[in-house]
Order: sequence, then C-alpha cells, then structure tokens
Amino acid sequence: MPLEVVEPRIRGFISLTAHPEGCAERVRREVETVRAAGPMPPLGNALVIGSSTGYGLASLLCSLFGAGAATLGVCLERAPRGDRGGSAGWYNLAEAHRLAAAGGRHLETVNGDAFSVDVKRRVMEALAERFGPLDLVVYSLAAPRRDDEASGASWRTTLKPVGAPFRGKSIDLRSGEVRETSIEAASAEEIEATVRVMGGDDWAAWMEQLREAGLLAPGARTLAYSYVGGELTQAIYRHGTIGRAKEHLEATAREISSRLARDGGGAWVSLNKAVVTQASAAIPAFALYAAILFRVMKERGTHEGATEQIVRLFGERLAAASAGDVDAEGRIRLDDLEMEPAVQARVAGIWERIATENLEQLSDYRGYRRDFEQLFGFGVEGVDYAEPTELDRPLAAAPGS
Ligand code: NAI
Repeated sequence: MPLEVVEPRIRGFISLTAHPEGCAERVRREVETVRAAGPMPPLGNALVIGSSTGYGLASLLCSLFGAGAATLGVCLERAPRGDRGGSAGWYNLAEAHRLAAAGGRHLETVNGDAFSVDVKRRVMEALAERFGPLDLVVYSLAAPRRDDEASGASWRTTLKPVGAPFRGKSIDLRSGEVRETSIEAASAEEIEATVRVMGGDDWAAWMEQLREAGLLAPGARTLAYSYVGGELTQAIYRHGTIGRAKEHLEATAREISSRLARDGGGAWVSLNKAVVTQASAAIPAFALYAAILFRVMKERGTHEGATEQIVRLFGERLAAASAGDVDAEGRIRLDDLEMEPAVQARVAGIWERIATENLEQLSDYRGYRRDFEQLFGFGVEGVDYAEPTELDRPLAAAPGS
C-alpha cells in the first residue's frame, strides 16, 4: 500500500505525475454534475472507446450515472506499479469504478490499445458474456499513433496546417509568454497519417465487428466527437491535418448511419465546444484561443466543461438528433454557444490586442491553467496536497463479473 506525497511535474502540455486523490475528487464532482442534471433517457448497455479522460470520461459518467447503462470502457492508461504512480486517466477510472461498485452499477474497463485486434476481441468477449447487445457506442479516441497489425503500418498524428505555413500567436505554456509561432505546412504523408489515426477507419471497424458479432441492439446509435471552431483556429485546426481527419470521421458517420438506419438506429458526429484536455493542450495556438474564449463565455454565463456538454448531449441532443435536429451536414451542434457570432467577434477583438503583458487581464489564462492542472488531479479544492496519498488504486470489479 504505497502512500506518497505527489507533486506535479509539468513539462509543457503534460504532467509526468498525477495526484490520485485529486483525480478522484474531480470525478466525484463530475458525477455530482451528472446527477444534479436529473434522469436522462435510459440506456441498457453502452460502450465508450476512449473512456478515461476528457469527452470520453464525461460520456462514461453520463452513461453510467445519468442514463443508468451497464457500461464498458476502453482506454490506454498506465496502471500504478509499486511506488510508481498511475496516469491521471487510470485514477479517474479507479474512482468511477469505486462509485459504480458502491452504487450497484455495472462498469468494466479494458485497458489496452483500442486499434489492436486483441483489445477488440477482449471487448467482444466481455460484451457477449456479461453485457449483451449495445444501445450506444461512443468513439472518443484522441491518439498520437496507430499501429495497424494487418498491414504492419504505423501512423502518427501531426498537428500542422495544410497548404501554407501557419504564422500566428500562441502561448508558451512553460513560460506563460504570448509569442508569434510558425509551423510549416504538412507533407502529403503527414496528412494521410493523421487521417489514418484520427479519421473514421477504426470507428467503422469497431462498428462492423460489433454488427457481425450480433452485439448491436435494434435501434443502436453511435457517436464520435469533432470540432469546427471559428476563424482564429481554422488554419491549424479545421483546415489543418486534424481537420482532414475530422472530415473523414464525419464522412464515416454517414456510411455507418446508412447501415444502422435500416434498424432504426444511426451514427452522428457531435461538434463539441473547446475544453481543456490532454489532447487539446497539444494543439498549437489552441491554449490562447481557449483562454480568451473561456473569459468571454464566463462573462456571458454560457461557459461549459466537458461534463456539462455531454449532459446536454445525453439529456436532450441525442434524442433530438434521432428526430432530425442536426445541421446541414447531419452533425449535432453542441458548440452552438461557442459559435455564437457575438462570442466569436469578441474573442477575435481580444485576440488582436493580446500580449504577454495583458494576458491575465484580457483572458482567463488563470482558469485555463487551473483546468490544465486539474486534468492531472492538482489544484483541486478540498484536497490536502501535503498529505501522503494511496497510489495503488484498482479498477474495482463490477458486481457479478
Ligand atoms: P483526451 O486526451 O482527454 O482523451 C483521449 C482518450 O483516448 C483517453 O481515454 C485515452 O486513454 C484514449 N486513448 C488514446 N489512445 C488510445 C489507444 N491507442 N487505445 C485506447 N485508448 C486510447 O481527449 P479529448 O479531448 O477528450 O478528445 C476526445 C475526442 O473529442 C476527440 O475526437 C477530439 O477531437 C474530440 N474533441 C475534443 C475537443 C476539445 O476541446 N478537447 C473539442 C471537440 C471535440
């Protein structure tokens, strides 16, 4: 039972350590947010791929504690070993498992590479033996690489502009300075590799395997997440390598949907709001945009985190999408409040003026940093960071599994 005082070791956009109790406390608060929202349309069985952090964790918590579904999650996290702590996602799920077991809810996790044959096989077995056909599949992977066993190929995600270099402002997360950065345009290989990792191939493969195994209930629905954003992030996001992957993901939704619709189900991409996650912190210029956006949305009282967004999705928007409430490209718009013209115009006005000297005054960089530290369980109110904390936290077994 290793008890340790855990300190943050932040390197740019990642912390090498995670605070187990801080992560647990955050998950308890997110579960409170889900419960406070009231009952959601019920679901029998759900699968969440990318379940340990960010939008996937929010989906897992809504599925389990909002919609009451028996839920299987898939993630790639570092388990604690001896005096070496686990990753933040591991500790998030350890608490979700503890709360699920305490409340008699069924949660299981498969920890491994979601792209692999082995993880897909383990998931199919678990579903067939202990769950039954799925009502909902959420695909929320944000992965830096994909190894394809069939072809032996290995692809890496790059976050680069397409066609022309990017020049613009960004924050150096190490020093808190606003700087001009430039990023060279991606090569054709880099674009293709990013599409292979973050596009729809693997989502389609999961859905096909589930269908063949008879593990999709009549009317089964599936969701994946994407982002559009305004003018300021276009060059690096929507018109960049990641944007190409998202276009592929959105086209894949239409293909999957045409198969599921025969049985009364469907596939949608939900366009979500910018929030601080491990994946988004890695996107150049995104931190500066998010810090300004948070200030503007907090002033207007419309700011939401990942959990509030997914509460809206599970509570109302998924049912509305099934009834046809989607945009012209068939997508769910959870980013409606971020994309309000008045919000985008105000963010753009601040962007023009922002510099290192006025960063704190003109943006919510402080809030951005707090969210960022909290991803790793640090800076969470009510946690005594001077106290040694238990590193060895298991993913508790589900009742009857
Ligand atoms: P995240 O970094 O918080 O979560 C990524 C998840 O994928 C984690 O559960 C991680 O364990 C899992 N994962 C990564 N590689 C894996 C692998 N090989 N095998 C199994 N699991 C693996 O990311 P975030 O931001 O929540 O992203 C999820 C989705 O939401 C992405 O499609 C992203 O583009 C989208 N999105 C994110 C927005 C944001 O502002 N963060 C905005 C709109 C959409």
